[in-house]
Amino acid sequence: MSGNITFTMIKPDAVADGHIGAILGKISEAGYKVKALKLTQLTISDAKKFYEVHAERPFYGELVDFMSSGPMVAAVLEKDNAVEDFRTLIGATNPAEAADGTLRKMFARSVGENAVHGSDSDENALIEASFHFSGREIF
Ligand code: RTP
Ligand code: MG
Repeated sequence: MSGNITFTMIKPDAVADGHIGAILGKISEAGYKVKALKLTQLTISDAKKFYEVHAERPFYGELVDFMSSGPMVAAVLEKDNAVEDFRTLIGATNPAEAADGTLRKMFARSVGENAVHGSDSDENALIEASFHFSGREIF
């Protein structure tokens, strides 16, 4: 995998709200190729590890509970400039501040339950992809 990879999750709120198909459609329309894809659920311990960087933040407990609360979709995506363009596609963390046409503007419930995750660097994209997928599951 190269620098043209990002990792995403369709978070439990968007899965529960029935948005998997619509979100995957927008991702595909934006030019991303799916390299890996699955419906899965994080344990509390998985969610703690995945968001460890936020361990000292006041919202950490809520974030861990939410991300482990139900099924979510994990995916590895490929496109030129994947990480940066995907952050633009999903929009601001708080959907109230997200631009029109962004996934969070369209599908998120709130700043905590904000529908979609996107990696914040090429390095983290590879770490996050490996956290969720074995080599055999990435194509
Ligand atoms: P993500 O990592 O999920 O793509 O989101 P992000 O980069 O836009 O935001 P980040 O700062 O990494 O925060 C991770 C997730 O923590 C939750 N959060 N809640 N209640 C709050 O003030 C608050 N702030 C952040 C969100 O689910 C956010 O996506
Ligand atoms: Mg982040």
